[in-house]
Amino acid sequence: MSAAPDWKALEDAYVLPTYEKFPFVLTRGEGCWVWDDAGNKYLDLYGGHAVAALGHSPREVVDAITRQSRELLFYSNLVYLRARAEAARALVEFCGEKGSQVFFCNSGAEANENALRIARSVTGRAKVVAAEGGFHGRTAAAIAATGYKYRKGLPGLGADIVHVPFGNLDAAEKALDGAAVFLLEPIQSVQGATTATAEYLKGLEALCAKTGALLIFDEVQTGLGRVGARSARHAFGARPHLQTFAKALASGVPAGAVLAVPEVSQKVKPGELGSTFGGGPLACAAITATVRAVEDRKLWENAAAMEALIRKTFDFPQIKEIRGKGLLLGLVLDRPSKPARAELLKRRILVGGADDPNVIRLLPPLTVGPDEVGALRSALADIFAAETAAAR
Ligand SMILES: Cc1ncc(COP(=O)(O)O)c(C=O)c1O
Repeated sequence: MSAAPDWKALEDAYVLPTYEKFPFVLTRGEGCWVWDDAGNKYLDLYGGHAVAALGHSPREVVDAITRQSRELLFYSNLVYLRARAEAARALVEFCGEKGSQVFFCNSGAEANENALRIARSVTGRAKVVAAEGGFHGRTAAAIAATGYKYRKGLPGLGADIVHVPFGNLDAAEKALDGAAVFLLEPIQSVQGATTATAEYLKGLEALCAKTGALLIFDEVQTGLGRVGARSARHAFGARPHLQTFAKALASGVPAGAVLAVPEVSQKVKPGELGSTFGGGPLACAAITATVRAVEDRKLWENAAAMEALIRKTFDFPQIKEIRGKGLLLGLVLDRPSKPARAELLKRRILVGGADDPNVIRLLPPLTVGPDEVGALRSALADIFAAETAAAR
């Protein structure tokens, strides 16, 4: 019998080395669990990077895309599609503002790119104001609006973009003079789960109303129930003109969306935006199934309950602070988190890091329960106790 191929070596040989990866080959996932090619089972509290909101390979989404792919795998925006109509209605109803409309695309970066494009064309202005520390994706405008290291080394990008400190309304007010738009992540996930206050977001809403700029919430991570509410807009009680979604939107089928409130959507003109694959039937079937499942199961309530459990029980002196909301959380350690994350991996628990080196980032499926939270707590208790013993 010939030996199984070394998929890791093969991928390293043929794929550009742009990511630091977990050191295993995944073959299967179900709920909060994934399996590698040696049959090892891991508890996934990273959720495939905030994508697996319903858990891995959720039945309702798998059934929906199987059905759709048999009926019609693809047609572009040149035709009307039942799947697209249903997905747009599902997202608008989920977010709850009547008369809002959706533009579908394929990723978070594209959603931000298109939201910026809408804001510039609707206001007739060029200047973009964005918050320092925000991450918005890797395409031209999205990376230029990204408020830190990722945009470095890209000269020529972002001539019309001004960055201001996150949380500072005075700086926002000055920068918004003559601007088209303010773009921010209500919770800066990649950076380390730094969280806005409701006052700040409502203050930005008021400043945008005063200056005629549009407000965009990048909800690529915070949308769809993750933050213990339907979206950050609901969690903080501030109304942006545009919300961008991706990640969990279609449970892993590539999809992004921009949701525009009525007074903005009415001003978008035919031909201004476009995407071949955006709004295709397969992605839309996955979007409808995902959004309906989050809605029917009110998964934001479980996210809020699990956040409360974590805040109550993760009472380790090594955790200085817990940032974030719902199931977008940053456990801020009193030291770099890399060794603890490596120890968690040895115990077959997957978590994320962040650009703040002290942060362990949790982005688990919204279906996660007290048993899985308890498993993480026990593992951390073990790891911290071993560290303390070693230090004596
Ligand atoms: C808040 C936020 N916005 C945008 C993006 C970009 O999304 P994508 O990788 O789908 O382009 C990300 C990706 O991590 C993100 O976290």
